Amino acid sequence: MQIVLFGPPGSGKGTQAKRLAERYGIPHISTGDILREHLKRKTKLGLEARAYMDRGALVPDDILIGLIKDRLSQPDCASGFILDGYPRTVPQADALSVILTELGKKLDVVLTINVPDAELIKRLAGRRMCGCGASYHILFNPPEHEGICDRCGRPLYQRDDDKEEAIMNRLEVYKQQTQPLIEYYTNKGLMRAVDGAASIPEVFDALCRVLDEIQKSAL
Ligand code: AP5
Ligand code: MG
Repeated sequence: MQIVLFGPPGSGKGTQAKRLAERYGIPHISTGDILREHLKRKTKLGLEARAYMDRGALVPDDILIGLIKDRLSQPDCASGFILDGYPRTVPQADALSVILTELGKKLDVVLTINVPDAELIKRLAGRRMCGCGASYHILFNPPEHEGICDRCGRPLYQRDDDKEEAIMNRLEVYKQQTQPLIEYYTNKGLMRAVDGAASIPEVFDALCRVLDEIQKSAL
């Protein structure tokens, strides 16, 4: 299955994509994670992206389009993928459609996770991360021992763009530049939405129901 997981910052894309990737046996591709990895390794791309990411702005389309083209051409994407955080602009969505056509694939669904703004702010401000990729929330998904990763025992940290000013900017950027994609994919008949304000397992079940239905109808 070729899936786009769509939603505002903090809606739970990363949390759910990790679980869905495991259940459906397809790779989770997060452009935010790929960019943060470049940043950590101080690559040319990472250094270029840093200024945009820290203030919660979008990294330019040409960088993202090149990056996603490379990633989708990897052999592990042969049986499908879950895109998290891409596309975020109409030019990125147009480019995705060209890339998929070149690869002989097409999108099965764009799954949107809807969450009210006030809840998004609480989620982002309380998120804590680990270098191993695990993600927690100080109230909604806390680790067993405060500030320590359950999986690898390392100390947790806060993302630079989870500070208040950057959070507000990310929400505004989402409304201005990314939200138009809802109409874009609705017009293509690909959009399905779930209520993301429920608990993490409840949202997971709702997403699986939609995906199982799509899988069944393709048989
Ligand atoms: P990216 O990393 O994609 O950030 P984002 O879209 O802002 O989304 P987040 O990762 O913040 O939230 P999420 O939806 O994954 O939520 P999560 O599961 O973590 O992008 C970062 C930056 O990179 C961008 O600002 C931009 O600069 C750049 N970038 C990336 N892609 C780009 C692109 N295509 N074009 C241009 N620039 C790009 O959950 C959040 C918190 O809530 C966690 O603590 C979690 O535990 C908790 N939580 C999750 N679900 C629930 C629930 N149901 N109930 C309670 N708590 C929950
Ligand atoms: Mg994420």
